[in-house]
Amino acid sequence: MNSISLPAGSPLLKKSFIYGTATSSFQIEGDVDNRLECIWDRFCERPSAIADHSNGDIACDHIARWRDDFDILLDLNVDAYRFSISWPRVITNEGELNSKGVAFYKTLIASLNEKGIKPFVTLYHWDLPQHLEDKGGWLYRQTAYEFENYVDKITQALGESVFSYATFNEPFCSAYLGYEIGVHAPGRTGRKYGRTAAHHILLAHGLGMKVLRKNVPKSEAGIVLNFTPCYPATQRPEDIVATRKADDYINQWYMQPVMEGSYPEVLLDLDEADRPPIEAGDMEIICQPMDFLGVNFYTRLHYSAPKEKSALFFEHPHQGPLTDIGWEIYPKALYDLLTSLNERYTLPPIFITENGAAMADELKDGHVNDVDRVDYYHNHLNMVHNAVLDGVEVSGYFAWSLLDNFEWAEGYEKRFGLVYVDFETQKRTLKLSANAYKALLASRT
Ligand code: NOJ
Repeated sequence: MNSISLPAGSPLLKKSFIYGTATSSFQIEGDVDNRLECIWDRFCERPSAIADHSNGDIACDHIARWRDDFDILLDLNVDAYRFSISWPRVITNEGELNSKGVAFYKTLIASLNEKGIKPFVTLYHWDLPQHLEDKGGWLYRQTAYEFENYVDKITQALGESVFSYATFNEPFCSAYLGYEIGVHAPGRTGRKYGRTAAHHILLAHGLGMKVLRKNVPKSEAGIVLNFTPCYPATQRPEDIVATRKADDYINQWYMQPVMEGSYPEVLLDLDEADRPPIEAGDMEIICQPMDFLGVNFYTRLHYSAPKEKSALFFEHPHQGPLTDIGWEIYPKALYDLLTSLNERYTLPPIFITENGAAMADELKDGHVNDVDRVDYYHNHLNMVHNAVLDGVEVSGYFAWSLLDNFEWAEGYEKRFGLVYVDFETQKRTLKLSANAYKALLASRT
């Protein structure tokens, strides 16, 4: 497919529907000498932690080249740009503001505002300062209060020039991938660790929300969660039960506490020793009214009853049409997700804060003909359209990502960008998908 289109008259074609692109600090910035070490710097030093043995030292060299990237945003004519603030760049070892780091974001935000592009800031996109990890990281309750201090300081500095603040990006990834199965930084393993880290991150979210309300009441405040809809492999009752547990464990574990102040039922299946360290008052702090919910969506998974006694469910490998990172392409899961969340919870407006695909891009004669990515965007946006027609309030959509970048444990080999980055020369080339996205935005009434 060569273009992204929506049915005539679609609510997604109204000017009020916000379109943007997204990035995150560690994945694009580089310039490591001007910030503290973070857990991803350290994790990248582990032999075989990263598929191509790379790191974030240079990444897209965005700190030096941000004006070029800003010009691309102008060219695409996006309404909003979602990026994250690097905690280790803006806060010193002593917990004070680092003025040089803050100045970078201030200039970026002022430039965005000047051109009418709404800044959507993520306060935590996985780059925890390493000195805090040395004290226990997200296993240590105090880290939630360190986050509160960081949010207090940075929001005093940036104020309401930021349209939207998200406390966390994908707590599931930080807690489960980082502390439970160890494939992300800091690379720790154990159910107890995963559940403890998740609880402290959720607590930090609640503390952060309170600070946002106090310091920047006019900015929108919320959280970004990732969802991988769970489907039973068969209709056998035991597979359906296992699927429900999987959904509770990977998705609702984060959603239910922030929306309703309680953990899902699957908590009762865990050994006492593995349950989160909930202290009196925690659940009330975690459950704060939010202006928006950020939803990141990429794929779905199938489940059946566990094969081992200690397991809660069995997760099937991805099947069917796959992206280059091996995730199933199944757009209808995005519709199913949005409508089921809307049925189950009393939701604030939703932003699709990430959606996109890694594809095996090839730069040939100055062009990347990523028709498969265009197809992916077309089909997923049409599912958002269907969900909106069925009553889900969706206010905007962000393509992941603006640029090819450091794809965590996959290094630079998996490309998610609308824009191709040659990591040898740092040359940026708009892919077919960037032009299709631009044309979609230009076609709005
Ligand atoms: C989720 C994360 O927020 C982002 O950092 C990552 O690159 C994409 N998904 C793709 O895996």
